[in-house]
Amino acid sequence: IMDHVLIDSLSKRGSAISQAAAIPAGYSLLTNDRLALDNLAAQIKRSQEEIEYVAILDLEQNILAHNHLDRVGGTLPFLVGEMHDHPDGLTITKGLHDWTECMEFRRPIYFTEQHIGNVVIGISTRQLMALKASAHEQILLIATFVTALALLGAMLLSSIFPRPIERLTEGVSKLRRDEHVGNIPVRSRNELGKLTHNFNKMARTIQQQKASLHNYADELEASYNDMVRILAAALDARDNYTYGHSARVARLALGLADKLALDTEAKKELELGCLLHDIGKIHVPDAVLNKQAKLDQDEYATLTQHPLLGSKILELTPSLRKYIPAVKHHHERFDGNGYPDQLSGDEIPLHAQIVALADTYDAMTTSRPYREGLSREETIDEIRRCSGSQFNPELSELFIDVVLSTAENTTEEIMPAEYLCAS
Ligand SMILES: [Fe+2]
Repeated sequence: IMDHVLIDSLSKRGSAISQAAAIPAGYSLLTNDRLALDNLAAQIKRSQEEIEYVAILDLEQNILAHNHLDRVGGTLPFLVGEMHDHPDGLTITKGLHDWTECMEFRRPIYFTEQHIGNVVIGISTRQLMALKASAHEQILLIATFVTALALLGAMLLSSIFPRPIERLTEGVSKLRRDEHVGNIPVRSRNELGKLTHNFNKMARTIQQQKASLHNYADELEASYNDMVRILAAALDARDNYTYGHSARVARLALGLADKLALDTEAKKELELGCLLHDIGKIHVPDAVLNKQAKLDQDEYATLTQHPLLGSKILELTPSLRKYIPAVKHHHERFDGNGYPDQLSGDEIPLHAQIVALADTYDAMTTSRPYREGLSREETIDEIRRCSGSQFNPELSELFIDVVLSTAENTTEEIMPAEYLCAS
């Protein structure tokens, strides 16, 4: 493109100069004024630095005038090279003249439409080439400068923007994963700075709300557990001799849960299941519950309703339903002869099997008005005897380990501390 533009511009200049020269040359040719022709050639040569030579020729291409006077009288043949003829008679040739790369403009001189001679102007392309080289250099320089500027800009941008954006993205991910998000430093006053500032505010609010929500949930769970304990204690309190029973059952059951490596959630559920296991006894009249003599058939039937009644009570409250397996089935037997559903073996929920062992142990060791409580060793023998019929044999052995590793006479230890409505 550059070549084309430069040559086009040079062609226009050469064409204009030769046209301007043709008019005075025509007059001088007519009057055969050689001095004027010499002057014209010399003047044109001086007018432009890149003009290499100027000549006025007759029709046979003989030199009538030339800026080098010694060439007058000789001939000036056409340059050897690329030649273009124009409609107005101008011929432009590109080639070597005296070892110099030139563009030659050979224009016919007319006088009243009669061809009387030719004016020839040779313009060196040396300057053109120099100009081209310098333009190349400038373009290269500008390109280098622009590239360097772009690189610098990219580096600056990458140091200003990505880090805060990275930090923000990380903050959002942390919030989503429920992890703690610290304050992200605000380094600029632009849009990004505002965004970071607002993100920090939002993250703080979310985290504060989450913390208070956790506290609230913890408080709720604690008061709910207290409620269950109060309920269990109130129930135990109806019978002077079972006072503290539920808490002792829970304690023994948790010992067995440790042996079974139950997780925290399961242990919590087991503990409350133990506290609630006899909740159905609310429906059993005091006369039956506290009767010192042997129960008659009807009374016994009423008493054995308590696991089912208990499960019906828990059914009313969705959050208590998870304790139903322990409550409903703590009187089932391993051999299937228990109540209410005659479940056997592994059909009996694990928590119910654990409660059964702990409940029986505590009942046997507690003294009643009509009988003295059994000793630890006697109770252990009794459990062994019932292992496989009443109790799961594997659980029985583990339970006996728990009993043996627990301090004797736990009754007094538990009561004051664990009972909220002791009276
Ligand atoms: Fe019971």
